[in-house]
Amino acid sequence: MKIEILTQFMEMFGPVLGGSILGRAAEKGLIETELIDIRDWSLDKHRKTDDAPFGGGAGMLMMPQPAFDALDSVGAREKRCIYMSPRGRVMDEELIRELAASDGFVLLCGHYEGVDQRILDAYGFEEVSIGDYVLTGGELPAMVLIDAVARLIPGVLGSSESLSEESIYSGLLEYDQYTKPREYAGMEVPEVLFGGNHRLIHLWQFERSLRITKERRPDLFERWLASHRELTKEEKRILHDVLSEA
Ligand code: ADE
Repeated sequence: MKIEILTQFMEMFGPVLGGSILGRAAEKGLIETELIDIRDWSLDKHRKTDDAPFGGGAGMLMMPQPAFDALDSVGAREKRCIYMSPRGRVMDEELIRELAASDGFVLLCGHYEGVDQRILDAYGFEEVSIGDYVLTGGELPAMVLIDAVARLIPGVLGSSESLSEESIYSGLLEYDQYTKPREYAGMEVPEVLFGGNHRLIHLWQFERSLRITKERRPDLFERWLASHRELTKEEKRILHDVLSEA
């Protein structure tokens, strides 16, 4: 998978793309990222890439020319193009899975007030938001997207198990987890986790996941209920108990 990132703030990406899990994924050749500095394509002697919006208003907008030239340098007309913007579709599991299964895409990061609309129109940009709040630029959202996509690429995480058990991907939020010591500040780890009985441990985890999801994210819980799940008799009994509580 290759991700081409167009930005005016190259330096923001270094520690994230080079660090930890993403850095290792790049070394293994599982994900390739290329940073393109939009300022390199400016024809202005001061490398200017922004100007004031027509019609007035605060802030500056990315001008078409440097963006068009930078985009053409990576063949963006033939590629899936994503622009990070609070105006976009809110990123979710479905989009992340789809991107993780693709060969790659182009990511454009705007700063200040955004970009000239003609850039988005000419390249058929899809707008993607990371949530209903506004950040100062698209760089952090782009890194959030890359991180979420990268960890779904087979081989990026240590074991594929860590995905299947996980919050969201199973449709339920994750159960509570504990590590050593067994007792800390008078608080004990649930007894069932020590017995070595994997069936009982699984049922305890399943129940915690159900209760946490029902309480915190009733929307996810309803979606999980509506989707077809093969449950064992014991899982059905637990689900029945959880559903029968107010
Ligand atoms: N740029 C600024 N805010 C953003 C958000 N919430 N999502 C994506 N891109 C953004």
